[in-house]
Amino acid sequence: MSDLLIPQEIIRQKRDGETVSSEDIARFVEGITDGRVADSQISAFAMAVFFNGMSPEEGAALTLSMRDSGDVIDWTSLGFDADAPIVDKHSTGGVGDKVSLMLAPIVAACGGLVPMISGRGLGHTGGTLDKFESIEGYDPYPSIDRFADIVRKVGCSIIGQTGELAPADKRFYAVRDVTATVESIPLITASILSKKLSAGLNSLVMDVKFGSGAFMADCGDAKTLAENIVRVAGAAGTPTRALLTDMNQVLGRTAGNAVEVIEAIEFLMNPGAAESRLYDVTVGLAAHMLVLAGVQSDIAAATAAAETSLTSGSAAEVFNRMVAAQGGPTGIADDHGKHLKVAGHSLEVRSDVDGFVSKQDTRAIGMAVVAMGGGRTDPTAVIDHAVGLTHIAQIGDQVDSTTPLAVVHAHDEASARRAAEAVKNAIIVSDTACETTSVVAEIVGG
Ligand code: URA
Repeated sequence: MSDLLIPQEIIRQKRDGETVSSEDIARFVEGITDGRVADSQISAFAMAVFFNGMSPEEGAALTLSMRDSGDVIDWTSLGFDADAPIVDKHSTGGVGDKVSLMLAPIVAACGGLVPMISGRGLGHTGGTLDKFESIEGYDPYPSIDRFADIVRKVGCSIIGQTGELAPADKRFYAVRDVTATVESIPLITASILSKKLSAGLNSLVMDVKFGSGAFMADCGDAKTLAENIVRVAGAAGTPTRALLTDMNQVLGRTAGNAVEVIEAIEFLMNPGAAESRLYDVTVGLAAHMLVLAGVQSDIAAATAAAETSLTSGSAAEVFNRMVAAQGGPTGIADDHGKHLKVAGHSLEVRSDVDGFVSKQDTRAIGMAVVAMGGGRTDPTAVIDHAVGLTHIAQIGDQVDSTTPLAVVHAHDEASARRAAEAVKNAIIVSDTACETTSVVAEIVGG
């Protein structure tokens, strides 16, 4: 082995099923960051990994090299104790997944510290950052010092990924996205963890989704990904746990941006009326974060604390303070109607038959929101935060021609009609009620 970077040699080793040394992986990642490795070489390497996988050592080396390709936040240098309960959650992405909006305030209200770096929508899935940008004035890109200050004073802050955190992933991911190499467990693991570990967390909880609205449709594949993430993060010194959660239907009753923020606010203000699967995922993730961060000693106590933060209104208060600290309006949870715009053309989608909702093509529902302008069809597109779906029927709901399967909110009548048609085709109604399954299927690393 020499100190010289020879990308084609590293690619050949991976192509031929040999093990690439940690030093060579580090050199390759350095070359991705500083431009010495060409897109064609990144693409060839990704395809070789796609077919031949990576050993645990190679996977860990790739993750750590990508984490170290940019800044790694050191919370002690920002004035936090080394054992401060700094904890985050990452979801692999779904439709209607507004969990972070309630989760960060709940965990903060219970004594955790949540510096959450979130992403934009990808494909049919929505992104937390896009949802927050529905709120007028919300600044998702404060400086690191300001970010730390909000975490210190409020307990949580939700921002977007800055160019300084894991820049190698930014380039690597962009190449994977257009070379059919996204669906590789070691590459997904390195991509997610490089970003999360660069935030300097003391612990991490993953929400790994499976089903028709997830990137990994198969529960077994999602479990393999969860196990790999838990192992690599643990080896990197960040205790991590994963919840495998069902994405075979929209999470909650809304999908879009402003409409999801409104559902999140209503959840915080009136948790007793929250959609039950959304409630179970949110409180379940909160409980695991509080235990992993050392704020609570067991899941039962942590669940009780999370629930009390909701019923007492303290989580809603934290949400208000976080939004105001990031430049949004004060007291938004008490007065969201003034600050969140929902599109003017609404159309109820009705079932032609009486019966029970038995299945959703969740991906198609997500794409209906994208097609209305609520998501991006190219990375530079400007999205319409006001469009989306509300009143989405859940599997097991009884419906007839008078109850909506969903309500479409669109910019104009033609796009409302197109979305209504797509949603109607994506929600299957049957004569008999089917068994509903628990939204949290399994816990990995608990
Ligand atoms: N999300 C990421 O951040 N990276 C991946 O590779 C897949 C999903």
